[in-house]
Amino acid sequence: MYRLLYPLRTYLIVSGRIGEEVNVMTADWLTIVSANPFLIATAIAPTRYTYKLIKKYGEFVVSVPSVNMLRDVWIAGSEHGPGKLSRTEFKFTRARKVSTPIIENALANLECRVVGEHVYGDHVLFIGEVLATHYRESAFKDNEPVLEAGFLAHIAWNKFTTFQGVFYPPEK
Ligand SMILES: Cc1cc2nc3c(=O)[nH]c(=O)nc-3n(C[C@H](O)[C@H](O)[C@H](O)COP(=O)(O)O)c2cc1C
Repeated sequence: MYRLLYPLRTYLIVSGRIGEEVNVMTADWLTIVSANPFLIATAIAPTRYTYKLIKKYGEFVVSVPSVNMLRDVWIAGSEHGPGKLSRTEFKFTRARKVSTPIIENALANLECRVVGEHVYGDHVLFIGEVLATHYRESAFKDNEPVLEAGFLAHIAWNKFTTFQGVFYPPEK
């Protein structure tokens, strides 16, 4: 019952290359595994079109969507293959270190090169080394996310939420 671990943050995985093929899928199953070097891991089912593109190019981009992008997050997470992108408003632009594009209208983008992969059950865990990052200044201040930017978390099928801060120890 993996839902016992929810709510989980919701991200977008961009794969492919501008001028060849670009795809976006939604992913909850993503975590940090090392700070230095900065490594992340994401579990992607081999049935995803995204899986095919990550295997082909050995790189991907993690984009951090805001709640304002929910319609596109839903399309990316419920339709298969690049054809869905014509119904979305993702704005792609060149990345710095990888050939996979970043999503300009997302809150942040992390450019990743695949440095490891392993099949675990019905998903493949890709380890990505983060080679470059981009973020919206108003969404991250003093190295901290600004919750008003509308970071997205997933609760259940079509139910999402954003965040409210609580302080502990209480602020003086
Ligand atoms: C909120 C949400 C989170 C998802 N998380 C994952 C995930 O972590 N791993 C995965 O393989 N699929 C996940 N999916 C399913 C894929 O996003 C979905 O199958 C998508 O259509 C795959 O697109 P593609 O075939 O174009 O790559 C999620 C879907 C939604 C709506």
